[in-house]
Amino acid sequence: MKRERLILLTAVALAFIGLCSCGNNKAKEMVTTENFGSFEGQEVSLFTLTNKKGDVVKLTNYGAAIVEINVPDRNGDKGNVTFGYETLDGYLEGDAYFGKVVGQFANRVAKGKFTLDGVEYTLALNNGPNSLHGGPTGWHSRAWTAEVLKGTDFPAVKFTYSKPDMEEGYPGNVVAEVVYTWTDDDELIMDYKVTTDRRTVINITNHAYFNLHGTGNGDILDHEALIRASAFTPVDSTLIPTGELRPVEGTPFDFRTPHLIGERIGEAYDQLVLGGGYDHNFVLDNVEQVDAEVYDPSTGRVIQVITDQPGVQLYTGNFLDGTQTGRGGKVYQYRSGFCLETQHYPDSPNQASFPPVILTPEEPFLSSTTYKFGVR
Ligand code: GLA
Repeated sequence: MKRERLILLTAVALAFIGLCSCGNNKAKEMVTTENFGSFEGQEVSLFTLTNKKGDVVKLTNYGAAIVEINVPDRNGDKGNVTFGYETLDGYLEGDAYFGKVVGQFANRVAKGKFTLDGVEYTLALNNGPNSLHGGPTGWHSRAWTAEVLKGTDFPAVKFTYSKPDMEEGYPGNVVAEVVYTWTDDDELIMDYKVTTDRRTVINITNHAYFNLHGTGNGDILDHEALIRASAFTPVDSTLIPTGELRPVEGTPFDFRTPHLIGERIGEAYDQLVLGGGYDHNFVLDNVEQVDAEVYDPSTGRVIQVITDQPGVQLYTGNFLDGTQTGRGGKVYQYRSGFCLETQHYPDSPNQASFPPVILTPEEPFLSSTTYKFGVR
């Protein structure tokens, strides 16, 4: 009798332990981790986040990058809508920015120079006469540390990069964190936190390219875009803002009502000629929840962009040229992807009239951007 009781108690205890560990691993089971290689002695992994719909996002800690986003079209057929490489070598050899987190200063800094508190800082030039996207070894080209978050409602992974003082010319021991959360409503939420031990400048974005047909299936000129921005920042011939905030009214930059990306892209408008298409910062009105939206009439897929940042760079893949082959053997041709890079305005450290980009030890930089997918 006593022995039977003991067996029963043991069985109940084991079941309880089993249940507890299931509960604790709830979020973990929504994220699986595979080896993706190593970079400068650090392990690189591929993380697969699956939500309750069975829709999948893949991430890697190399460049804190989005690798794949698999979402249904209006018939329920799933397809990958973002650019990424099959292997870590693809990332090391290929285009620097696909899906990456870009820092310490996203987009361009004129002539690679800025002055802060009376001190002039010099950055490496990697884009003609300018510094682009944090320089050649910016945050996009680093292996971040990774943590699969536990106890969350949705699959979530946190990447952290600790940047030493003066790396790529930027002052401050800076710690950057991004948490990717993939909700059951197909929202990919990117929560950023950046701290420093010394005054510096910050502009962080995600540089994902999208093609809502599914990547590798034609260009994005037939996608319809809406951008809630009443002005944009015109650029010079090296794509540095002139300082003007130009109203979009009456220009091919007016996306306050939906327009096909290709509808006006070929017009002889000065800024389209200088940019080789759209490659401009839009000054967001920030008045409605959704800041930008792109719809593909053929598949019905929609992406909505929601951000607390003051600007978004619409870039229409004008530098893509078919030399990059991504996941599934897909070739990324001219204008076969668009980016909506939420950000502070390019070259802000040199533009006193733009919203400030100074990061201080007293106050962390906190920001959130969401890419939400759906169909219509
Ligand atoms: C941003 C820039 C573009 C280009 C891409 C990367 O969108 O504004 O000019 O450099 O990044 O190719």
